[in-house]
Amino acid sequence: MTELLDRDQVREHLVRPYTPQSSSSDQKRQIERIKQLLIERDATLVAHYYTDDVLQSLAEATGGCVADSLEMARFGSKSPSSTLVVAGVRFMGETAKMLSPEKRILMPTLEATCSLDIGCPAAEFSAFCDAHPDRTVVVYANTSAEVKARADWVVTSAIALDVVAHLHEKGEKVLWAPDKHLGRYVAEQTGADMLMWDGACIVHEEFKAKGILDIKRVYPDAAVLVHPESPQSVVDLADATGSTSQLINAAKALPHDTLIVATDRGIFYKMQQAVPEKLLVEAPTGGNGATCRSCAHCPWMAMNALDNLEQCLKEGLGEVTVDEAVRVKALVGLDRMLAFKSGR
Ligand code: 13P
Ligand code: SF4
Repeated sequence: MTELLDRDQVREHLVRPYTPQSSSSDQKRQIERIKQLLIERDATLVAHYYTDDVLQSLAEATGGCVADSLEMARFGSKSPSSTLVVAGVRFMGETAKMLSPEKRILMPTLEATCSLDIGCPAAEFSAFCDAHPDRTVVVYANTSAEVKARADWVVTSAIALDVVAHLHEKGEKVLWAPDKHLGRYVAEQTGADMLMWDGACIVHEEFKAKGILDIKRVYPDAAVLVHPESPQSVVDLADATGSTSQLINAAKALPHDTLIVATDRGIFYKMQQAVPEKLLVEAPTGGNGATCRSCAHCPWMAMNALDNLEQCLKEGLGEVTVDEAVRVKALVGLDRMLAFKSGR
């Protein structure tokens, strides 16, 4: 009896199944105006999985793309449009500009940054690299253009394991920045010698093993999907660990009917499309006694909205620029990432 009561309480307090957002008639009119602006400005919308449903569906409906940070970079660099509108965070806009300097890159807001980027200032990072000249510098895409300019390789979470495994096979020692959780996961999986920068994602760091175990009591047959920016105790509970696109693929491949998902809840829009018959449940944040410090939604991704998207297209606001000398240096690691073919 107590067990049953406990389950109901857990369900009530922690379980948040995904419910799709619907558009009001005002929103629908605004969406039509934005579609028209995209045509008039020869612009393509490239959106990350963590942006709001309405932006993701607009990107899909207008021939743009919804993707993880690696695919956003690939898609943008191949797009024939003269303008790309990047709905995501600053490093994604900068990456698009560095790969396509001839294009105009707009963002709904240039204020949308990332805790990993903020936590890795270029001057301090450069000094860290200077102190360890024997190491191959591998930086996560979630960094500024200046930090990328110090790197031998740029990687996203979709490709980090393969690139570091390749370097390890060649006997190279790695200097890794900025996400310590992803770095630890990559080191553990590949056996590579990795010296870590001390950075973290404020969204993924909030997922707690205790909360996931509580939800598992309600859904004992559920699979747990985890983005590797999460702490080790959470990754240890995962049935699948990977980048946003890899988690969507895992949702399809796993036989489970219920999936507990430890990453930004923006991913539910595309994940539910991929597995319409499955129940998607947010992994809880904050753990036992949580005070809702985090809601599994990146505050910077959430800054992208229809209003600032319309404004940026109408007035050309939010144009991304990158210093040419920085761009040329950063391109070395970026090009290596895009050219890398996994041998595994
Ligand atoms: P992906 O490369 O998996 O899309 O992740 C980007 C990101 O910011 C995760 O928090
Ligand atoms: Fe950065 Fe985390 Fe937001 Fe991704 S979810 S953009 S890593 S703060």
